[in-house]
Amino acid sequence: MKFSVIDKLFLLNALVARVTATPTSSSSLISVSVNPKAQFQEVDGFGASQAFQRAEDIFGKYGLPAVNQSLVLDLLYNKEVGAGFTILRNGIGSSNTSDSNFMNSIEPTNPGGPNAKPDYVWDRYNSGQFPLAQQAYARGLQTLYADAWSAPGYMKTNDDENNGGYLCGVTNESCASGDWMQAYANYLVQYARFYKESGVDVTHLGFLNEPQFAATYAGMLSNGTQAADFIRLLAKTIKKSGLDLKINCCDGIGWDDQEAMMAGLEAGPDPAINYLDVVTGHGYDSAPTYPLSTNKKTWLTEWADLTGDFTPYTFYNNGGPGEGLTWANHIQVALRDAGVSGFLYWIGAENSTTNSGLINLINNEVIPSKRFWAFAQFSKFVRPGARRIAAVSSHANVTVSSFENKDGRIATQLLNQGNSNVEVKVQITGLKSGASIKPYLTNNDNDLEPLASIAVAKGGSFQAEIPAWSMVTYLAV
Ligand SMILES: *[C@@H]1O[C@H](CO)[C@@H](O)[C@H](O)[C@H]1NC(C)=O
Ligand SMILES: *[C@@H]1O[C@H](CO)[C@@H](O)[C@H](O)[C@H]1NC(C)=O
Ligand SMILES: *[C@@H]1O[C@H](CO)[C@@H](O)[C@H](O)[C@H]1NC(C)=O
Ligand SMILES: *[C@@H]1O[C@H](CO)[C@@H](O)[C@H](O)[C@H]1NC(C)=O
Ligand SMILES: *[C@@H]1O[C@H](CO)[C@@H](O)[C@H](O)[C@H]1NC(C)=O
Ligand SMILES: *[C@@H]1O[C@H](CO)[C@@H](O)[C@H](O)[C@H]1NC(C)=O
Repeated sequence: MKFSVIDKLFLLNALVARVTATPTSSSSLISVSVNPKAQFQEVDGFGASQAFQRAEDIFGKYGLPAVNQSLVLDLLYNKEVGAGFTILRNGIGSSNTSDSNFMNSIEPTNPGGPNAKPDYVWDRYNSGQFPLAQQAYARGLQTLYADAWSAPGYMKTNDDENNGGYLCGVTNESCASGDWMQAYANYLVQYARFYKESGVDVTHLGFLNEPQFAATYAGMLSNGTQAADFIRLLAKTIKKSGLDLKINCCDGIGWDDQEAMMAGLEAGPDPAINYLDVVTGHGYDSAPTYPLSTNKKTWLTEWADLTGDFTPYTFYNNGGPGEGLTWANHIQVALRDAGVSGFLYWIGAENSTTNSGLINLINNEVIPSKRFWAFAQFSKFVRPGARRIAAVSSHANVTVSSFENKDGRIATQLLNQGNSNVEVKVQITGLKSGASIKPYLTNNDNDLEPLASIAVAKGGSFQAEIPAWSMVTYLAV
């Protein structure tokens, strides 16, 4: 059965009764223990991108009534209504046009050389990303990561924003037109300046996307040494600009590819890593299952199911690559085993019938996928500044992660990745008896469904049933 989003969000109390009344088929009690005294990484948040004109999809490029444009924005960024995403990844465009899905550049034409005066243009639109950032900040966004997939073609060895090529001037890559590194650094800072002057803060700057891969679309190659060359220069340029901008690098195509760049970032008498705020990697070729070799924060900045069957309504069927539980598990593993501080899907919302976004916009309809609700189960309750805390489960099919928010609220995520309902006893050290636990359930039948509160028993524990193939977040308030 399908309900409209509005129904799902506001009118599902009736289902709660049904879910809680489901008889248990479990035999033994599973124990989960959480220890807030053992603290790990700080969380910056969750999110996605609306690059390559996906922001325009939200603003009705293919027709979406105003009421549903607001609904999408609320689902993404308003934590009372939806996921409350706090990180947005913008694409800094390198195209000389905004046809099709291109992201137009702020310097679409070659000024004639790296030392010539650049002819910057600013349309306050930025392929829809500027008004999107305004709307997102108005709803609670905290972090705007502006990332260039490529420098404009004329700054590159292949004279093309597409098909790989290197930035002219990095180690072992030179061009007849000269060294464009400083011009590229000025250009990225100018992008942030345009935003700032128009009232929107870019917080983090990036200059690469999947630099191992020569894509047919915008992209640029780099290894760790070459990225390091540019980071040192970008840091100086930012300092001179007076803007408050952090640097991210390098959005490697897979976690292993990003790991392979670390040596270059850490090498030399003036290691580039010292100028970075966040090391960023994607999940495509290899998943974030271990910590990168750095003591900097790390974010998984892009990953998606680009190949599976279209499964917007499936939390669990057979563990397929686009299913909700698959993504709940990816997020949990990245937070727990890779120690990431941020986790971003590829696209937030787009006009498509694929799994590459979290919300599908089809005709005038807004269809949040089960992946979206899996993200919301984390993002709504694990807020920026939260710390991951120690959490273990006695059963392999019931996996756990837990976080202590800055306001002291503890959010614990349990995934039942098995085919039977289970009964769990959750012990949270230091929790007072009589405290109240608010559970929220997502599975094939429920989307972030609030269940009846549970009172904490003596000794700081509570007991609950989790249906098969389900995720529950327990918020201790
Ligand atoms: C615009 O960019 C495309 C693709 O990089 C290139 O082929 C074309 O020559 C450029 N056009 C102009 C007018 O610079
Ligand atoms: C790369 O450049 C370094 C000096 O910057 C030089 O020693 C080395 O031979 C070059 N390697 C290649 C493959 O061109
Ligand atoms: C990056 O590539 C350059 C040019 O081929 C090479 O000199 C350098 O050693 C490479 N760096 C790493 C860390 O592999
Ligand atoms: C985009 O939306 C339009 C209008 O709703 C629809 O006809 C079209 O099929 C959609 N495109 C994709 C790729 O889903
Ligand atoms: C908005 O989206 C909802 C959910 O998909 C749909 O039921 C509704 O018809 C849409 N509203 C309009 C005005 O098209
Ligand atoms: C874990 O879940 C799988 C899949 O449902 C099931 O086959 C297996 O028996 C479960 N393991 C245990 C120990 O219950």
